[in-house]
Amino acid sequence: MAIVAPSLLASNFLRLDEECKMVNESEADWFHLDVMDGRFVPNISFGLPVIEKIASVANKPCDVHLMIEEPEKYAVDFRNAGADHLTVHLETCKHLHRNIEQIKSLGMKAGVAINPATPVELLQDVLHEIDIVCMMSVNPGFGGQKFIPHSLEKIRKLRKRIDQLELNCLIEVDGGVNLENAKIIMDAGAHVLVAGNTVFSSPDPKAVIRQLKKL
Ligand code: DX5
Ligand code: ZN
Repeated sequence: MAIVAPSLLASNFLRLDEECKMVNESEADWFHLDVMDGRFVPNISFGLPVIEKIASVANKPCDVHLMIEEPEKYAVDFRNAGADHLTVHLETCKHLHRNIEQIKSLGMKAGVAINPATPVELLQDVLHEIDIVCMMSVNPGFGGQKFIPHSLEKIRKLRKRIDQLELNCLIEVDGGVNLENAKIIMDAGAHVLVAGNTVFSSPDPKAVIRQLKKL
């Protein structure tokens, strides 16, 4: 059964309380919260005060995806804002192992995200240390993009490695997930499906979440 993490980036910010209520009442497992700084990615989304408000009403873990430079500077702040999982991009970390230790020492689950052009092999020496690999299946920065098919190869390769080593690390697939491709993504070895537009553009978001959960 898929772990489903709706991405609030695609929600209606004018009605954030209702959108959070919908996720709380749905079969979704996590709130996926995308933080963008306009430096690492060419877009700016929302930050600490918004996450603090969402976390205060969320009855499920807040999975915070940092698309920012120097994420180590903000780990304490995101923990204090209510992040349960903190994911940093491998491409932004000069001392990835240190960053992972920092996140875990703050009591959060540690995630590492990789861009479409970053090989899964680069995770090899930290795989046993982390809880989540966030496999970007679009170039990070925007919701509503098209799933990059080569991601499936990367998911298969990573899943094989995780199983060989008998690790508990979850593979989270982020970007362009929809009801048409979700099954092949799960069959390739994903554990977690992030879905933004697929959920929030639907007239019946809870039904979409229910369908994704069944996979
Ligand atoms: C993209 C973000 C994603 C995004 C997914 O940079 O990390 O989480 O919100 O949105 P969809 O599902 O619409 O591609
Ligand atoms: Zn994300």
